[in-house]
Amino acid sequence: MKSIETYSDYLEVYQKSVSQPEVFWAETAAEFSWIKPWDKVLDWNFNTPEVSWFTGAELNITQNCLDRHLSEYGEKLAVIWEPNDPAEPVRKITYARLHELVCRFANVLVANGTKKGDRICIYMPMVPEAMVAMLACARVGAVHSVVFAGFSAQSISDRINDSGCNMIITADGTMRGDKKINLKEIVDDALQVCPTIKHCIVFKNRGWNIEMKAGRDTWWHSEMHKVNAVHTAEVMKPEDPLFILYTSGSTGKPKGVLHTCCGYMVQTGFSFKTVFNYKPHQIFWCTADVGWVTGHSYIVYGPLLNAATQVMFEGIPTFPDAGRFWDVVDKHEVNIFYTAPTAIRSLMAYGDKYLEDKKLTSLEVLGSVGEPINEEAWYWYHDKVGREHCAIVDTWWQTETGSVLMTPIAGLGVAKPGYAMYPMPGVQPVLVNEKGEEITGNGVEGNLCIKFPWPSMARTVFGDHERFRQTYFSTYPGLYFTGDGCKRDEEGFYRITGRVDDVINVSGHRIGTGEVEDAINDHECVVESAVVGFPHDIKGQGLYAYVICDKPITDLVKLQQEIKQLVNDRIGPFARPDKIQLVRALPKTRSGKIMRRILRKIAEGETSNLGDTTTLLDPAVVEDIKSGVQ
Ligand code: WT7
Repeated sequence: MKSIETYSDYLEVYQKSVSQPEVFWAETAAEFSWIKPWDKVLDWNFNTPEVSWFTGAELNITQNCLDRHLSEYGEKLAVIWEPNDPAEPVRKITYARLHELVCRFANVLVANGTKKGDRICIYMPMVPEAMVAMLACARVGAVHSVVFAGFSAQSISDRINDSGCNMIITADGTMRGDKKINLKEIVDDALQVCPTIKHCIVFKNRGWNIEMKAGRDTWWHSEMHKVNAVHTAEVMKPEDPLFILYTSGSTGKPKGVLHTCCGYMVQTGFSFKTVFNYKPHQIFWCTADVGWVTGHSYIVYGPLLNAATQVMFEGIPTFPDAGRFWDVVDKHEVNIFYTAPTAIRSLMAYGDKYLEDKKLTSLEVLGSVGEPINEEAWYWYHDKVGREHCAIVDTWWQTETGSVLMTPIAGLGVAKPGYAMYPMPGVQPVLVNEKGEEITGNGVEGNLCIKFPWPSMARTVFGDHERFRQTYFSTYPGLYFTGDGCKRDEEGFYRITGRVDDVINVSGHRIGTGEVEDAINDHECVVESAVVGFPHDIKGQGLYAYVICDKPITDLVKLQQEIKQLVNDRIGPFARPDKIQLVRALPKTRSGKIMRRILRKIAEGETSNLGDTTTLLDPAVVEDIKSGVQ
């Protein structure tokens, strides 16, 4: 396939990718290794919805991530692991060594009874073993369900029970800055209500003294000693499930978004190489956690599919000080750096002194992901971190899309601050109005949909295909609806404006208002609540909760603390509301619907232009709320 080195290359490739999508993706897929090639490139129907790519093929994604590279790149570094504490030793893992670890751990899984199709929960810190665990699952055909190691016990058990995992892989604990995180304790708590879990394998990361439950818990290292390093990858069909990853939506509990083996492989591999314009000598570093889709696609699968060398980091950007990211960049001579706007904004707030004494000369490409990046942060990233010569790739995508769908491609020179710019090859975005009609032309704004399938798209919600259809394919029949608003400017370039549903993006973490409300409503004094987002300087959006209590509250501060703690325990620390206001009632329409638009405006500090309030059951409620703003 033609490589994309200039903007006109891009235009040519893009044109072909939409006029002959099957030819384009077949050529892209030909660069991977196949046990058996496909018979048919694509079958699709966005109404049912059903999508199959590369029917008839046989493959294993880990064979493409590992075995395939051994002859040429066996001694090349796959991972340079940087510990939380810079005084501790760095670990360097070659492709040959990673292959060996994955084969051994695959044998551990088999020895513990794992069969193709089993679901396995992974609750791990940012250590190479997290990657080994994921790849070993994929190698034996088990479906990994990684839960970010910042989620609470309840979130873990909800996810395990939803997908019926029979094993969990975790670690004793991890350090984030100077904070100790006792992962095993949280897992023990979760497993009290998880009857399907038969095995818990524990990686000794910190050497802390932890409890091991006989018959259920075993140590990673002792399991690894019992097996050999020979394992032939399981033969997988293209649409066999690869992983489940839970994500939040407007309503209900988080959904188990399911991705399958083949299309995901083809597009994450292609997109990693293309978006970052990755060259084999370069060192890549993505600061995401493997617990989010960014970690799945651009720490685990994308880089390994390209035999890339990457830095994996256990810690946080502000430990020992706010210069840590830049120290790590210099220490390992990172060429491509990929992070989230929230991290950029928080480091910007610490001041330029933390990067003025750094070299940063190795940097060539800077990526941004997870939320819209404001112009101030974009310029700081470009001018101060990138020293005005690095390409910025503002990559727009979602857990459901599997890989980057819109971005300026590195090195093509066509970019604007805050713009995801143009679609990746093979991606066909459309903007639609309220009625679902396509908005054509430039200088327009609408809801962002995708009108043609792409290989790495999610295939279903685990155990609930109807919910999948309803959530993504029913709002605008025949189109995949992203949930995002988007502008197309006069030149035809795209700018994501943010969610148009009740999903709030807090520091790049996707939070459903309903989930937080459910947690708050569990407080014994609370009868009802409504959570909305408000602009936050560092987090992008913060959470503002309006609560109604049925008992007189004498100590408001105590109530606020208890509510925050409750959300902390039910979901995780990142979902704690920033502001909590006690209200007499919520603004509701006569049909009982909460008018969130009004609550959002009040939370933003807007008190005059609240729009039409005449449909409210009791307009006086609004005045009350305004007078008690936090
Ligand atoms: C939502 C998806 C993609 C991996 C991390 C987040 C927002 C994501 C951008 C961007 C503006 C962005 C969207 C999207 N988003 N990237 N570059 N510019 N907004 O994955 O948790 O599934 O969240 O994040 O609103 O719908 P996610």
